[in-house]
Amino acid sequence: MPARARSLSLRRVSELPLLYADADLRAELEARLPRAVWEASFEFRAETAEPEEGFRLRKTDGGWELEVLDGSGWKPLRIDFRKGPLAVRRERSPVMHEPLRDLLQGQGPALAKQAPRVWDGTLGLGEDSFLMASWGCEVVSFERNPLLFFLVDRALAAYRADAAAPPLKWELRFGDVRSHFDASLDVARRPEIIYLDPMYPDRKKAALGTKELRVVKGVVGNAPVGEENDLVARAMSFATKKVLLKRPLHAETLVVEGRAPQAKLGRSTRWDIYAARSRP
Ligand SMILES: C[S@@+](CC[C@H](N)C(=O)[O-])C[C@H]1O[C@@H](n2cnc3c(N)ncnc32)[C@H](O)[C@@H]1O
Repeated sequence: MPARARSLSLRRVSELPLLYADADLRAELEARLPRAVWEASFEFRAETAEPEEGFRLRKTDGGWELEVLDGSGWKPLRIDFRKGPLAVRRERSPVMHEPLRDLLQGQGPALAKQAPRVWDGTLGLGEDSFLMASWGCEVVSFERNPLLFFLVDRALAAYRADAAAPPLKWELRFGDVRSHFDASLDVARRPEIIYLDPMYPDRKKAALGTKELRVVKGVVGNAPVGEENDLVARAMSFATKKVLLKRPLHAETLVVEGRAPQAKLGRSTRWDIYAARSRP
């Protein structure tokens, strides 16, 4: 996990983001992932301590909430797949133009009839994974940050507990997706498509993006230089059909091991398409 900028406060003991959570909440976190995993990513503070900066976790009747202590006055972030913008997008998707859905479908029949196996290597807040699963894809998603993994895991559990919510073929796994690219895995069990949306390292203020994206950036920090290239190269050797790399519309093109991708353009997003090396 990359180190974050050190706070000016003398009371900090590490360079990790601060996470305020009381003992009960910590016990719930540690019931899902080991304490050592949490402590490698966050410096914990008890809820009673005076908030300085960082993030505060709360559990409410409506679900888990993450508050950003940066004076922005933002409402806490809550992931909800049952209602809100994502649920609306799912409901409208039969009639809405979704470039990503066209890409997943290729020239084949409708996704619901013949849905590809997709691995999403960069779960984040789970938005893209949720949409792909709600279009019928079999999705396995990977996240190496314990807090984001935990929040999506709990939101998915709440979705599944709702009897009215349509079923999804969606599985979450904690860890770096690259450690799951097992060369000995039978081709029939490999993903046809690997989807990647790594944090884009643009430090211009105008490029900070939505509140959600800024929260994710604050939680995970910057990825090491060159990591995107490594991620795409390894994914190309593991997927059986293609690798999709989501980028800002005007981001430079990543040529990976001499291969330039084809591109599909959305309104503010571009998906770069790399052919898999391991096509059966
Ligand atoms: C920009 S966010 C993804 C947003 C996501 N597409 C969504 O719809 O919410 C990038 C996420 O990928 C995660 N990530 C980056 N590289 C990873 C890797 N190699 N393995 C697992 N997770 C990774 C980061 O921790 C971060 O949460």
